[in-house]
Amino acid sequence: MNVLLVGSGGREHALAWKLAQSPRLTKLFAAPGNPGIAEHAELVELNIADHRAVIDFCRREHIGFVVIGPEAPLVDGLADNLRTIGVGVFGPSKAAAQLEGSKGFTKDLCAREGIPTARYERVHALDGARAVVGEFGLPVVIKADGLAAGKGVTIATTAEEADAALAGLFTGPGAEAVIEEFLTGEEASLFVLTDGAHLMPFGNAQDHKRVGDGDVGPNTGGMGAYSPARVLTPELEARAIEEIVRPTITALTRVGTPFQGVLYAGLMLTAEGPKLIEYNVRFGDPECEALMLRLESDLLELMIAADDGTLAEHEARWRDEVAMTVVLAAQGYPGTPETGGTIGGIDAAEAEGAKVFHAGTRLAGGKLTAAGGRVLAVTALGSSVAEAQAAAYRAVDAIDFPTGFCRRDIGWREVAREKGE
Ligand code: AMP
Ligand code: GLY
Repeated sequence: MNVLLVGSGGREHALAWKLAQSPRLTKLFAAPGNPGIAEHAELVELNIADHRAVIDFCRREHIGFVVIGPEAPLVDGLADNLRTIGVGVFGPSKAAAQLEGSKGFTKDLCAREGIPTARYERVHALDGARAVVGEFGLPVVIKADGLAAGKGVTIATTAEEADAALAGLFTGPGAEAVIEEFLTGEEASLFVLTDGAHLMPFGNAQDHKRVGDGDVGPNTGGMGAYSPARVLTPELEARAIEEIVRPTITALTRVGTPFQGVLYAGLMLTAEGPKLIEYNVRFGDPECEALMLRLESDLLELMIAADDGTLAEHEARWRDEVAMTVVLAAQGYPGTPETGGTIGGIDAAEAEGAKVFHAGTRLAGGKLTAAGGRVLAVTALGSSVAEAQAAAYRAVDAIDFPTGFCRRDIGWREVAREKGE
C-alpha cells in the first residue's frame, strides 16, 4: 500500500521510521517531511490546507492511506475529505477533532458525561471574565479557546497576571476563553488508539514542558519525555480509561461523530484521582518518539484497523524497556530560535545505540542545519529510566550542534523515584 504522511516534525520522523518497517508498506510519501523523514519517504511539496490538491495527489500516486501527524489539518477537516473519496486515514474527523480544537467543547462534554476535570467557566467578554476570576481565587488558569500551539494557557498567581492574560485574549469581538480551577499533582500523558468502538491503550509517557532544568522558565512544545511513566500505575491508567477516555469516546460515537485515531489525554494525577487537563487528537511530540522506539507491533496495521473499525481484532506489543527522548533545541527557543546553525555527529550519536529523530532540520548545500525551534529528538532505550537517561545523554554528547541546547535533567522525577528518594 502507498501511504502519505502529513507533517514535518520529530513526531513524524518517528512515525515514518516505524511505518517504513511495515510489511504492508509499498511506498511512503511525506508532505512536507524533513531530511530525516527523507531517509524513509519521498518528500512532496503539497499545500496541506488545499484539500483538493491533497486529494489530487492521492489519486495520482494511488495512495491508499494517509497518516496525519499534527492537529491543524485534523481540526480543518482533512480526514473527512479524504474519507469521502475512499482513502483511509489515521486521524479523527473535524467534528471529533474539536476535542483539541475547542477547549470549551471538551469542557462541556466532560460536564455532560461526568468526566473528572478542573471546574471551569466559559467566558465571552472581559468584564464577565474578571468576575469569574474573582470567584475562582488564585492561582487560576486562563485558556484561549482555540488551537494555540501550547501557548494559549496562563497560570496566573496574582490578580495582575490574570488581568494581563485576559486583556491579551479579549482584544476584539468573538473572543472566547475558559477559566479553570488550578489542579495540583503530577502530570502524565495517556495514549489510546480507537476506532470509535474499541479502545486500545497505546502507552503512556511523561513530558517536560518547561524550557529549563528543574522545570523552570517558559512553556515549550516539550523538551523531553520518557515512556512508560510509572507514576501512572496500571490501576490509575485503568481508572483514567474508564472514567475519562471511554465516556468521551462513547459520547462522540453516540452523536454520530465517532473518534478514529489516537486520543492523547493530558492527565493531572490529583489526590482525588486522575483528572483531565486537556485532550489532543494526535500523538504528542516528543512523546511519540519515545513510544515508537518501544512499539514492537506493525504500526501501519494498527492505524488501518483504527480507521476501518477492526481494532478489536488486534493487539499492541511493547518492549519492556524504558525509552527516553531528549530534545535539542536552537538557542532562543521557545522565543525566536537561531536558525542556520550547523549540526554534526548524528552518526556518532547513533553509534552509541540511540535513534536521532529530526524535528526542525534542513539540508542546505549538503550541510545539515537548524531550521526551527526544536531541532533533534535524541531517543534511547534502557532497562531503567536511569539507564535510558544515561544512554540518551551519551548520544546527545556525541552531537555537534554549537547553537543548540538541551535540558540535562529529563526524567528527573522518575530517576529520583528509582533511587527511592
Ligand atoms: P494545556 O495546553 O491545556 O495542556 O495546558 C498546558 C499546561 O498548563 C499543562 O500541561 C499543565 O501543566 C498546565 N495546566 C493546564 N490546565 C491546568 C489546570 N487546570 N491546573 C493546573 N495546571 C494546568
Ligand atoms: N508534548 C506535548 C504535545 O505534543 O502537545
